[in-house]
Amino acid sequence: MRSFVIGGNWKMQILKVDEAVKAAKAIADAINGLDLTGVDVFIAPSFNALYSVGQAIKGSKLKLAAQNMYFRDNGAFTGEISPDSLLDAGCTYVLLGHSERRRIFNEDDAYINQKVKKALEKGLKPVLCIGETAKERAQGKTDEVNKTQLAGSLADVLPEQMKNVVIAYEPVWAINNKFLNPDTEIKTATPEQAEEAHIFIRKWLVEKYGQEIGGVVPIQYGGSMNAANSAGLLKIVDINGGLIGGASLKAADFKPIIEAAMGNK
Ligand code: 13P
Repeated sequence: MRSFVIGGNWKMQILKVDEAVKAAKAIADAINGLDLTGVDVFIAPSFNALYSVGQAIKGSKLKLAAQNMYFRDNGAFTGEISPDSLLDAGCTYVLLGHSERRRIFNEDDAYINQKVKKALEKGLKPVLCIGETAKERAQGKTDEVNKTQLAGSLADVLPEQMKNVVIAYEPVWAINNKFLNPDTEIKTATPEQAEEAHIFIRKWLVEKYGQEIGGVVPIQYGGSMNAANSAGLLKIVDINGGLIGGASLKAADFKPIIEAAMGNK
């Protein structure tokens, strides 16, 4: 049986705690009746709402993720958040190296690598995001960019630690983000384009960590995934889930994607 990780990245879209709690509860209620064996589902709200959402979904089938974290435990680091605070809020997962962090906030692989290692040390599951821009793809650099980001962000991560890592392949040009894609038409990767990249990533993981470990690290697809296109993408063998932005904010949009994963088990 195949397994999937379906995540909702709420970015900076739901600004108030009570609205985030309401949206999270609606999703938890919508999925609680489903048989989610083999399908892990999480949402990543803003930091201000993390603890309250964690409390609201406690005991449900919905898991909690954070959108970022710092790589130190505590101290004088203005504006940062500790992995221990994420654990206190009830997080299972943490998104790291999202292209919005890489491209807008200048996070590089060495910096992301420190966070990945710290998350693993603390028992948080990193969702490592990678992906090329439209320009890089046009220059034929897709594989090279993904390989560089994987190698740099996962440096010194031990094979047994990889059992707790999720990779999210998110081609930047497919992410519904006008700020990152000012001159390009944003469109979901076709199943063929996504498959090609996922096969490349799988091969890299297997070469590096062996079939037993590298063969089963979940690789999510992210970039304009929605109810209409998710079934076609999740059918593909090496697409083991989705990281969803806009279509994860409302239960009515998010639930069909989760059901699409269930239908491909
Ligand atoms: P959209 O689904 O809104 O394109 O966002 C994808 C994404 O960046 C998820 O992390």
